[in-house]
Amino acid sequence: MVLFDDERLLHTPVMLDEVMSFIKPGKDDIIVDATIGAGGHSREILKMIGTGGLLIGIDKDAEILKIASKNLSKISKSFKLYHADYVDLSAILNELKISRINGILLDLGVSSMQLNSEERGFSFIREGPLDMRMDRSKGITAEDLLKRLPEKEMEEIFWRYGEERRSRSISKAISRERRKGEGIKTTTQLAKIIERAVYTPKKHTKRRKIHPATRVFQALRIVINDELKSLEYFLNNAHEFLLSGSRIVVISFHSLEDRLAKNAFRKGKNTSTLKILTKKPLRPLESEIKKNIRCRSAKLRAAERT
Ligand SMILES: C[S@@+](CC[C@H](N)C(=O)[O-])C[C@H]1O[C@@H](n2cnc3c(N)ncnc32)[C@H](O)[C@@H]1O
Repeated sequence: MVLFDDERLLHTPVMLDEVMSFIKPGKDDIIVDATIGAGGHSREILKMIGTGGLLIGIDKDAEILKIASKNLSKISKSFKLYHADYVDLSAILNELKISRINGILLDLGVSSMQLNSEERGFSFIREGPLDMRMDRSKGITAEDLLKRLPEKEMEEIFWRYGEERRSRSISKAISRERRKGEGIKTTTQLAKIIERAVYTPKKHTKRRKIHPATRVFQALRIVINDELKSLEYFLNNAHEFLLSGSRIVVISFHSLEDRLAKNAFRKGKNTSTLKILTKKPLRPLESEIKKNIRCRSAKLRAAERT
């Protein structure tokens, strides 16, 4: 059983003030936090809705829900947590006999707990098994995926989901390593293969802003957790759950997610189901980035149900 020390439990909620000012949770409201994580945003939501309201929290990660429950219980008991994919929101609301809600938050990506726990395999800096599943009760691990993928498909995945320009050299290097027969089992082993595959002498490069394994890890995570399919489906249907005048807020961390949010909100505008509240996505303030470097790539979009 994995035990988390205090530092790992901490997740600083990203763009908290902006989220609260868009969702504007009122007394007795029903709000859905579709990616509740450790409950960083939800703690504040819970304070605003009071004991007459209801916070519905969803996460694919059963382990993080225990942390959320502990964190939220300190505020009030007006919450229900579900170990599910957020695409199951309709079934959850049916079970609760709720037809409309007052707000939805989606804070995408991985939580600090997932990133900081080496045994989850999300971080290329921390040595751990190549797992990367948000829901460890099902699905295949990144190790298995890398064993099975033909070289050409690997290249396509790194290019499409990581927007990795050097996807060909990286997939070739992974194939070479696989032929040695020992397998690619750990995060740092994979990170080193990538580093070697894209190595260019310092004098020929500008200083790189991100670690060379960043995009490949992003691509693998997206595929392992089928992230974009869930997101696209959810965003295109979310308006059905919202009461008129209530809002949906999406915080994304890479351009593929942000594009899906932008397109879904545009579609909502064209079908007169949504009013877009953020012409351009909002970025965290410099002061927030200074305190929490992980939020630097965040983009927030919000829309209101007509
Ligand atoms: C960035 S964290 C959320 C952090 C949270 N807002 C906080 O302040 O503590 C994103 C969470 O979404 C979860 N998640 C990602 N995709 C999901 C999906 N399709 N359905 C449910 N949960 C998902 C992850 O497991 C992770 O815990």
